[in-house]
Amino acid sequence: MTNTTQHTEHTQKVYKPAPEYRNDARIKDYDLSYLNFQKDPEDFWRRIASDLLWFRPWDKVKDWEYPHARWFVNAKCNITYNCLERHLKNNRRNKVALFWRGEDGTEKIYTYDRLYKAVMQFANALQDLGVEKGDVVCIYMPTVPEQVIAMLACARIGAVHTVVFAGYGASSLNQRIVGSEAKVVITADASMRRGKSIPLKPIVEEALIHAPSVERVVVLRIQDPPTCLLDDFEVDFYQIMKKAEKNCPAEVMDAEDTLFILYTSGTTGAPKGIVHTCGGYMVGAYYTTKYVLNVKDDDVYWCTADPGWITGHTYAIYGPLLLGSTIFMTEHTPDYPDVGIWWQLIESYGINVFYTAPTAIRMFMRYGEDWPNEYDLSSLRILASVGEPLNPEAFEWFYKVIGKQRCPIIDTWWQTETGSHMITTLAGEEMKPGYAGKPIPGIMADVIDKDGNPVPPHQAGYLAITAPWPSMMRHVHNDEERYKSYWNTGKQPYYSTNDLAIKDEDGYIMILGRSDDLIIVSGHNIGTAEVESALISHHAVAEAAAIGKPDAVKGNLLKVFVILIEGKIVNEKLIHDLKYHVRQTLGPIAVPSEIEFVDSLPKTRSGKIMRRVLKAQEMGIDPGDISTLDE
Ligand code: WTA
Repeated sequence: MTNTTQHTEHTQKVYKPAPEYRNDARIKDYDLSYLNFQKDPEDFWRRIASDLLWFRPWDKVKDWEYPHARWFVNAKCNITYNCLERHLKNNRRNKVALFWRGEDGTEKIYTYDRLYKAVMQFANALQDLGVEKGDVVCIYMPTVPEQVIAMLACARIGAVHTVVFAGYGASSLNQRIVGSEAKVVITADASMRRGKSIPLKPIVEEALIHAPSVERVVVLRIQDPPTCLLDDFEVDFYQIMKKAEKNCPAEVMDAEDTLFILYTSGTTGAPKGIVHTCGGYMVGAYYTTKYVLNVKDDDVYWCTADPGWITGHTYAIYGPLLLGSTIFMTEHTPDYPDVGIWWQLIESYGINVFYTAPTAIRMFMRYGEDWPNEYDLSSLRILASVGEPLNPEAFEWFYKVIGKQRCPIIDTWWQTETGSHMITTLAGEEMKPGYAGKPIPGIMADVIDKDGNPVPPHQAGYLAITAPWPSMMRHVHNDEERYKSYWNTGKQPYYSTNDLAIKDEDGYIMILGRSDDLIIVSGHNIGTAEVESALISHHAVAEAAAIGKPDAVKGNLLKVFVILIEGKIVNEKLIHDLKYHVRQTLGPIAVPSEIEFVDSLPKTRSGKIMRRVLKAQEMGIDPGDISTLDE
């Protein structure tokens, strides 16, 4: 990077975990585990993979031919065999696999045995429709148990699922169906959201207008009276299931066969279909749910991500099922019927491990402590976060108000492309608010300059993963050039994350934001995340977004958009205070030239601030692809 900013160290807070958490952690000594991994990376992964059941063992753990890696070469497996049969054999047959709560209070409970039977029967139903190994099935459903069943049923027979978040509109859905050449679409007639029934089927109908690959549509009918179906083209979820055979042995998959394609949007161009495989992804999901999230056998575990995102794939479904955990899943958004609902659910289901996103935490902060304080949150043992930098203010609130200074905060950094966690603070380790943590054992990562050399502590650089790992994406679907663009040659090839970061002298990594979010003001690099974090640490601010606005003199001006805490009033004094506060926190170069107060910020449906939309608005230009923008 051309101009590296020296990030002066502020007094960094460090939280030491309570001794019982050190004992409770599965990785008790980070340094020792990391050393063991470094000594023999392949043996490290071999030992983890050996916990799982394989139909045939691998000939070789890793085969790396830049930029393509194969893991568990020639091994045969099926992820559903490990998510289901493995637990039936291990006395978990009657354990609850899934608690589901609808918005209207309806509850559905699946034990491992019941889930196993449902998956097998629906898998047969898909086969009866002509779905074969290697075919793509698009799943466009609300967060209901049938969505989990549909995903697992695909994996059972070797069909490739591509899940599309049910909040996407017709053209985004069409793009994903066409891109993946899906043969079957599984949907529901409606989705319940914030007290309203939102029709989904009309969206699917529109999305199918120019989608010649689709032969059948399976519809889960929730509405009353049930939606009419088009003969021979649309079929009812439960009717085809009822007609199908009960027993469906797991398809024998090669470790390198595709398990799923998940689309993620880039800053430009069409969304990318990220391809994950049966073997490596399974090992990554299993390892991190067990060792990072530290989920224990009698825990009730809740990851609030929608299955339409990678977090939903890996940590709402596959990871916990691989571990044989009890999953809690719900349709409830965090603010309906009121902002106490999630805390109420934690109390009533006795949630032990709770995994959510900074955007949700900041939303709760806006409404104050009284809401969570109404409920008994003493069941919580581990709190985790993903998706954006967990700024120190949000960390403190999560740690104190929700975790009552007992629960470790696990700030997990990773990407759709990485498949599973890469950088985080493990339970039992010292926590530094603002820092995600260190690369987990199994992962090699560093902060480097544009030539690939590590940068000194506290200097901004690019976050890179410097060696392949089992759950890495294998391809971008039908786009080898885009896949290759992630990999950098050089002395040592590395995977570019496109995130900016700094590392401290203990190896803790702070994420500064995407490299395209970097703002250069008068030759100084400023990460959007640090400016936003500084603003949020002011008592009047709930959320903030920073952008660079082209300026003839400075190159860029720093402009910020601010949402105030309920009840705070805009006046000259407040504007002055905010600027002063940023100056005190980050220094004069980071003081915003313009502050605009807003009621909301443009966000992706997974809760990330879309700064380029703000920037385009500001400059009166086309914002580019906005298919991921939340309404
Ligand atoms: C950002 C989500 C800071 C980052 C799993 C990354 C984070 C992108 C964190 C991937 C975190 C994710 N701290 N930033 N703990 N986790 N990010 O593909 O910019 O939806 O590159 O995967 O989210 O987003 P994706």
